[in-house]
Amino acid sequence: MHMTNFLTSTLAQMSDPMRDVWLPEQSSTFAPIQDRLFMFVFWTSVVFFVLLMGAMFYFVFKYRRRPGVPQMRSPSHNTPLEITWTVLPMFLLVVMFVWGFKGYIYMLVQPAGSEQIVVAAQQWNWEFAYDNGARSIKLANVADKEVPVFPVPAGRPIKLLMSSRDVIHSFFVPTFRTKMDIFPNRYTTIWFEATDFDGENAPSGPDPNDPNPDPEFPRYRDHYLFCAEYCGEGHSQMAAVVRVVPESDYLVWKENAADIYKDKSPVQIGELVRTMKGCATCHTVDGSPGTGPTWLGIWGETHQFTNGSSAVVDENYIRESILDPGAKIRNGFPNQMVSYQGQLSEEEMNGLIAYIQSLGHE
Ligand code: CUA
Repeated sequence: MHMTNFLTSTLAQMSDPMRDVWLPEQSSTFAPIQDRLFMFVFWTSVVFFVLLMGAMFYFVFKYRRRPGVPQMRSPSHNTPLEITWTVLPMFLLVVMFVWGFKGYIYMLVQPAGSEQIVVAAQQWNWEFAYDNGARSIKLANVADKEVPVFPVPAGRPIKLLMSSRDVIHSFFVPTFRTKMDIFPNRYTTIWFEATDFDGENAPSGPDPNDPNPDPEFPRYRDHYLFCAEYCGEGHSQMAAVVRVVPESDYLVWKENAADIYKDKSPVQIGELVRTMKGCATCHTVDGSPGTGPTWLGIWGETHQFTNGSSAVVDENYIRESILDPGAKIRNGFPNQMVSYQGQLSEEEMNGLIAYIQSLGHE
């Protein structure tokens, strides 16, 4: 243990130029721990690679076959040599194991008093539900795509309780060094503590990389959330932004976000549901093609289905397509949508129908 503590504290003082080149910014309490171990394993491997390959090439050259020199018999074994090259590397591996195990335990055990957020993943969207019922309606534009933004408090442990509504996804925020698979019919958890506001690094304004600064938060840092498990066609676009803000700002926001539908018309509610529930991943509202049909101008149209039948787009058709998407598959589109049964309140369902109706008939 003393050995690892010594190594950890010594290495903490050292700056590693390769780390700064390769690894993303360190923005959680995990990041320095993981990076140190990672770079230790890396440099150990480099040293042994050079030593072993150097020795190999030297011997290959020195003992190469030459005409007139009789071939030597190889010794079958050498006990002192074999014990040395077994025991010495074992010490290094034990250091890596103890060090890694300590880090693993630290990441596994959720500190008391964590802020708990329930995360739902589905093809191909993220949803965060906060402990007072708040939900984020913020959006950010990442690589020409609208993705949800989830505020979290800085300097406080955050526990995520995660599950999937369809296939396996994976929660991955590189700058936090957090990664955890998300399964259907089962919860997985992960925790992290963002360090953006620690010490003199505290941001004094919005994230400099954010083209549309968030007026609700005077100071924040954004982090990309990716899905790290291949989950179908939209996997590469299954992204979101985790926005780290001071805890006081977070609490005010959470209070205001508790009732997002207050004073909203059904059409406005439908518009919010479209982005929050991930409809926007597949259904555009500007007529451009997506995985699913656009919503623009479909109201009142007659759609042809793969089973040969047809129907006029009305309230009942839209409701059925949301709850039982496979019932009527429009010609030219895959049967790919998952059911939203149990995921929408009546208010949200009616909002979606009103919103699609408001997009009109061409
Ligand atoms: Cu979800 Cu990949």
